[in-house]
Amino acid sequence: MRMTVIGTGYVGTVHAACMADIGHEVLGIDIDAERVASLAAGRAPLHEEGLDPLLARGVASGRLRFSTSLTEAARFADLHFVCVGTPQRRDGEGCDLRFVDAVIEELGPPLRQGALVVGKSTVPVGTAARLQRRLTELAPGTEVAWNPEFLREGAAVADTMRPERLVLGTSSAWADEVLREVYAPMLRAGVPVFSADTATAELVKVASNAFLATKISFVNAMAEVCDAAGADVTVLARAMGADTRIGPRFLEPGLGFGGSCFPKDIRAFATRAEEIGAGPAVAFLHEVDRINTRQRTRTVDRARALLGGDFTGRRIGVLGAAFKPGSDDVRDSPALTVAAAAAAEGATVRVHDPQALDNARTVRPELTYALDVPKACEGADLVLHLTQWPEYRALSPAALAAVVRTPLILDARNCLDGRAWGAGGWTYHALGRPAPATGGVS
Ligand code: UDX
Repeated sequence: MRMTVIGTGYVGTVHAACMADIGHEVLGIDIDAERVASLAAGRAPLHEEGLDPLLARGVASGRLRFSTSLTEAARFADLHFVCVGTPQRRDGEGCDLRFVDAVIEELGPPLRQGALVVGKSTVPVGTAARLQRRLTELAPGTEVAWNPEFLREGAAVADTMRPERLVLGTSSAWADEVLREVYAPMLRAGVPVFSADTATAELVKVASNAFLATKISFVNAMAEVCDAAGADVTVLARAMGADTRIGPRFLEPGLGFGGSCFPKDIRAFATRAEEIGAGPAVAFLHEVDRINTRQRTRTVDRARALLGGDFTGRRIGVLGAAFKPGSDDVRDSPALTVAAAAAAEGATVRVHDPQALDNARTVRPELTYALDVPKACEGADLVLHLTQWPEYRALSPAALAAVVRTPLILDARNCLDGRAWGAGGWTYHALGRPAPATGGVS
């Protein structure tokens, strides 16, 4: 099938490359000419596992091309995926839809009758219906559908090729059929598919993210209770997660969620629910957000307490800058928020991360950075473990103890082996566990 993918950010680039790989003819569109040129040369603007070879293969086969022109897009195909960003509004509340709106305004007039415009971006419920009204004015006989993505950063290609489910939000059986044809290889492989109206499809995405964010904040709230009760949240979470109705995933207590999706999505969801008169139903999301932010302040407070109540003049080695392991993304990264707060109170903070140092330097130039863990921790009075990269679990505690001034570590991700760190000469602390924690009982 012929299709365009409008917006070659994270979602769009992955979608375009995957669609070309399963045999479709794809034209990727972006307003950024430099990005288009680089994509046309087979170079991805972002690092994502498995994306580079897919992109190169698509470009070499001629099935994947790129352009900056929406007029060319309208001429090229009658099926258009909209993957432009929907950032948080400047007032911090709802979702900024100006990029989606701009695409409809420009793409609409040259569209042919019978064209299908499919949104993939995460949007407030009701957006597809509003865009449909506008598109009908600009190009009668065209349809808007919604087909949300559920990609995790670091696993986006795998999540697109082998999704856990597909959600097709349409207003007609025809549009549903078109989308089933697009994803035919996935459907043949047995991927569950849910056909819905556009409002339900939009909601599946935000409700899923809200649920996962709530699960994380729930276990972090339990960490606070454990701290007050002298209990161990890691054992609690494992025991809770063994109940198959609860499950262990997204029940890992720690510094909480960050990134480009969860924080923004739950705020936008609460705002939209208020606008449509369902505010009280999701008012708990404000609490989910507050619990999440509190994990950052709790970590800073605990770090300060471990240093005797004052950061001034103290040296801190920070392990991790990315918002999660396997990613170089530092957007709303809990790790950087904590590192910056300690630095703002007078600590000398040196940060290590296996992948995110360049991005971290750009957003937090006030911090210092180190290319390896021993350099980050040299002479440290305290080490903070803030992003759960597997390489930090493989560190030799005894070797690292030799480079710090005081072998004192706060494991804000609750995933280092406390016993091993204790045996390596460290005083090991974690949130939600009696201090000094020993690593729990497995
Ligand atoms: C998320 C959703 O998973 C994805 O479906 C959606 O499309 C976009 O948002 P992503 O932001 O890539 O994807 O990250 P994810 O792996 O889901 O983790 C989100 C955050 O939660 C990270 O900061 C992670 O460290 C944190 N987290 C996750 C926890 O703090 N505890 C957990 O138990 C799990």
